[in-house]
Amino acid sequence: MLIPVPPMGWNTWNTFAADINEELIRSAADSIVKLGLREAGYTYVVIDDCWSLRERDPHTNEIVADPAKFPGGMKALADYIHGKGLKFGIYSCAGVRTCADYPGSFGHEFLDARTFAGFGVDFLKYDYCNVPVTGQAPLLYRRMGQALRTCGRDILFSACNWGIEEVGTWIRSTGAHMYRSTGDIADNFKSMSNIATGQIPHLSQSAPNCFNDLDMLTVGMFGKGNVGSSGCTMVDYQTQFSFWTLMGSPLMLGCDPRTMTPEIVGLVTNRELLRINQDPAGLQAYRINHCWGNPECFTLARLLEGGDIALGFFNISENPCGNLLLLEHIGLTYESGMRLRMVDCFTGEEQYSGRDTVKVPKLPPHGCLVYRCTPVKA
Ligand code: GLA
Repeated sequence: MLIPVPPMGWNTWNTFAADINEELIRSAADSIVKLGLREAGYTYVVIDDCWSLRERDPHTNEIVADPAKFPGGMKALADYIHGKGLKFGIYSCAGVRTCADYPGSFGHEFLDARTFAGFGVDFLKYDYCNVPVTGQAPLLYRRMGQALRTCGRDILFSACNWGIEEVGTWIRSTGAHMYRSTGDIADNFKSMSNIATGQIPHLSQSAPNCFNDLDMLTVGMFGKGNVGSSGCTMVDYQTQFSFWTLMGSPLMLGCDPRTMTPEIVGLVTNRELLRINQDPAGLQAYRINHCWGNPECFTLARLLEGGDIALGFFNISENPCGNLLLLEHIGLTYESGMRLRMVDCFTGEEQYSGRDTVKVPKLPPHGCLVYRCTPVKA
C-alpha cells in the first residue's frame, strides 16, 4: 500500500480521551464533511485508545468494542464513515495492554488485524505501552506490519513508540506508513515548539510512504480537552500548523470538529500550506540559522516539486525578532543573477527578495511567516 503524501485526518485522543462513543464519532464525521475538511484532505477519522471492553472475548479471544460506547458495533460505524467519503481508523498497542489499560495486541497480532479488517478499518495506530520485552520494538512492529499486509484489506499502519529505540533508523523496515517520534504533545507553545525543533535534525528519516509524525495537532483546542494545559493563542496555532506543514508531518487534527471556529478552519484548510505539506516530491525541510545567532529565530527551507522553494521564518522566543536570510544558505548565489519571487501563504501578497538577502519584518513572539518562492531573473 503506497502512501505518497502525509496522511491527514482527525483523532479522538487530544480532546476526548476515554470519553468516546459512536454518536460523537458520527457527529465529528458530519462536521468534518460540513466544514469542508474532507475536501481539504482530512479523510481519516481515527478512534484512539479506550474503544474496547477491558477483556478479550473469552471464547474467540477477539478484542470486542465496548457495547456501551458503540452499541451499533464497529462495522456499522465504519459503514457510516465510509458513506461520508471518509476513512475509518482504530487503535491498538504492541504491548499486552494499551496505554489506558485495555487489551493490547501482543501475541494476537494476526487475529487482531483480521478483526480490524472485518470492522472495515483503513488505518491502525499502534502504540507501545506495556510491552513485555524490551529492546524488541522493530520485531513487534514487523509482526503487526506483516499481520496488516496479510489481512486482506489495505490498512495504513501508524506506529507510535514516541521515538525510542531510534525508531527512525528501522521503522521503514516494518511497513509502517507514519511513525511518532516524540512523547505526547500538550496544548502549549513550549511542548509544540520542542517537538518541532527536536525533530528538525531527523527529517532525513521522513519520506514518501513513511512519514515522521509530529503528533496530533493541538490547533484549535484553546486549552480544552485531554492534553489541554494552558492552551495556545491563534499566533501559536499558526506557527504550529506551519511547522507541521513545512516539516511534512501527517496532519491529524486533535480539536473538537463540532466546535471549530471559522478562523481555525481557515488555518487548517489554508491551500498554500497544505500544498507545501502534500508536495509530491516529499523532500525534507532543513534549518538555516541566522547570522547573529539567536537560535530561537530561524528559517526552515524546503525544495518543492517544479522548482519552487518554501521558506518559513520562525520566532519561537518570547521577544520580537527580525530576520535576515542570506540566499547563499539556500544555494542561490549573487553570481546566479537570480532573486526570489515570494508569495505569502497567509495573505497571498507577493514580494521580491534582493539578490543577496531576504529581509523579514520583525516577527512577534511565537510568530512565523511562510512563503512559496520561485527563483526568477533579477
Ligand atoms: C499514548 C500515545 C497517545 C495516545 C495514548 C492513548 O500516550 O502516545 O497518542 O494514543 O497513548 O492511551
